[in-house]
Amino acid sequence: MASLKQRIKAIAPVGLTHWAKTRAQHARLKRSGAAEALAAAQPAEARLPLDALRELAAEFPPPPSIDWEGEACVAASAELGQTRVQWMRKFLGSRLSPGARCLELGAGDGAVASALAQTGVQVLAVDIQRGVFDETGLHTHVDFLEADVEKLEAVEDDRFDLVYSFDSVEHFGNPEAALAEALRVTRPGGYVYLRFGPLYDAPDGKHLGDRLGVPYAGVLCEDETIDALMAEQGRDPINHEYCNHWPLARYRELFAPRPERYEIVRAFDHLDLSAVELIARFPEVFRRRAAMVDAFLVNVIEILLRKPTQPR
Ligand SMILES: C[S@@+](CC[C@H](N)C(=O)[O-])C[C@H]1O[C@@H](n2cnc3c(N)ncnc32)[C@H](O)[C@@H]1O
Repeated sequence: MASLKQRIKAIAPVGLTHWAKTRAQHARLKRSGAAEALAAAQPAEARLPLDALRELAAEFPPPPSIDWEGEACVAASAELGQTRVQWMRKFLGSRLSPGARCLELGAGDGAVASALAQTGVQVLAVDIQRGVFDETGLHTHVDFLEADVEKLEAVEDDRFDLVYSFDSVEHFGNPEAALAEALRVTRPGGYVYLRFGPLYDAPDGKHLGDRLGVPYAGVLCEDETIDALMAEQGRDPINHEYCNHWPLARYRELFAPRPERYEIVRAFDHLDLSAVELIARFPEVFRRRAAMVDAFLVNVIEILLRKPTQPR
């Protein structure tokens, strides 16, 4: 028998299930007391010491490790590529026409580019490193350009109907420059779609995955404390510059309404409340980064911009 969620999905428009989900999120946030604790807290003078991180590491063991090169992982990436194309098409509605010219920023292994190209559009996949791009037969209609998305000199102005990116903006050193370039190479009236995260202040903001299970490790502890724990546990060191350290407030400023540059067609914040109780437990440490609880709950930003048809 179909679950309640499946039955609601079958009869209700997407908005209703979304509304039900956010109601549940609101209830959890309220129960946790995180927003109130944060608002009342004074910023702590220091982050948590190593012994406190050790205790948290025992409480939150890392998930099982993943063989990124394994066949299952390659298949999962291809499947995720298709899922992401569906997400993007849903967000875009009917705005992507057959034969459209698309450019992907930070394409990684090219799974999304490949899945998108199979739907009859042309794709140029850009990444700063060629090595990660999977050049096996799948990539008909996908071209690859090794370049820094913050300096796309090789790409002419107003060229693409759609510039898009998945889970890469939080890795760009200068997202402002990347957005400026994205808008430059988009044709007037064309679109920029970005979906990215976890943001740095979200539970897995440091992208530690199977190496350290402690949520909010980058908010709670200095890099040196995390390094000390990794060394103690005989785990590989962490590249602390893997992601930029942008707080939510900087992205809010980056995507503030600017009609002369773009129209915001749609925007959606995907939340992660899986560790909201930790905010209520260490409000003073969180308060060092931000006063508003949203800063620690927004996990993924999804946004669709439209470049004006006429320069203003
Ligand atoms: C986490 S991966 C995401 C890859 C792919 N979009 C995905 O979701 O599987 C981030 C990608 O951004 C690329 N990247 C980071 N900074 C970049 C830059 N300045 N210019 C171009 N690519 C960049 C990295 O090389 C990496 O492939």
